[in-house]
Amino acid sequence: MGWNSWNKFAGKVDDSAVRNIADAMVSSGMKQAGYVYVNIDDTWEGPRDAQGNITSNLKFPDMKALADYVHAKGLKIGIYSSPGPKTCAGYEGSYGHEEQDAKTFAAWGIDYLKYDWCSASRIYKNEEMRAVYQKMGDALKKPGRPMVYSLCQYGIDDVWKWGATVGGNLWRTTGDISDNWRSLERIGFRQFDIAQFGAPGHWNDPDMLEIGNGGMSADEYRTHMSLWALLAAPLLAGNDLREMSDETKSILTNAEVIAVDQDADGKPVKRISDSAASEVVAVRPLRAGSFAVGLFNRGEPTQGDQCEVGLTRHHGKGLARARSLET
Ligand code: GLA
Repeated sequence: MGWNSWNKFAGKVDDSAVRNIADAMVSSGMKQAGYVYVNIDDTWEGPRDAQGNITSNLKFPDMKALADYVHAKGLKIGIYSSPGPKTCAGYEGSYGHEEQDAKTFAAWGIDYLKYDWCSASRIYKNEEMRAVYQKMGDALKKPGRPMVYSLCQYGIDDVWKWGATVGGNLWRTTGDISDNWRSLERIGFRQFDIAQFGAPGHWNDPDMLEIGNGGMSADEYRTHMSLWALLAAPLLAGNDLREMSDETKSILTNAEVIAVDQDADGKPVKRISDSAASEVVAVRPLRAGSFAVGLFNRGEPTQGDQCEVGLTRHHGKGLARARSLET
């Protein structure tokens, strides 16, 4: 659980934004709710120095000092790179400098690396992808600083089948999410068939949260959170934590929904409704013999009181209610 800069800030992320977000993570109650990682996405990278060491650009004058600041708040810090020569936004990637960069990240105090395929597709064939991700997976182990390893290659080559073997702790299963219902629906409801590949230590990642970014209704954002929780997906908030509405905060910090997401057994969710139907019923076994049940109505007409009564009776406030069930 944590936050990532990309969805809201994209190229505008800088040192002061990251510090402010770390402050807000604590003051808003997000840290208390379980969010830990403050992850800098693309556009922090500067040129390499004469020895080939990666540097940060002018937006990030001192990465080590920034990491110290984030750590002093009791939080952890993440960074981003690519196995290719350039990142997706055209900044310096780790190609040919994998071990050197892993060492630099460790020396800065980094706790998490998102490693994004991007321009690697110009250098390598898809068949070489596993070895390429393995290379950084091995490099991250050498400096002796534990780092979460996040694979970002959009689900190519069924990454869920091999992501853990190259050291991955999470792997993106899809292309990029955007802040609208179509995108959320297309990504979120296509994850059920691969749920079995997630387990404690290595998870399917259907991309970061858009909750609070303004492009969807509160019901749609509740659906986002509920669905990601059922999927045991990483919860990486993607909004500006400095200016959250109470509604956004209550969705992101809903303790019962988070408990479903973070259930220690990490058992996979199963869709039990007909896969062609617009109603989705999904069940996830939890520790201690209980179950989380998700009821989602993706159709236009209201699907009635019966569902709501069922949800209320058996699960109380356990899951934020799905879209039109609210009405
Ligand atoms: C890709 C990734 C995104 C983000 C951008 C940054 O599109 O999938 O999550 O990291 O690159 O350039």
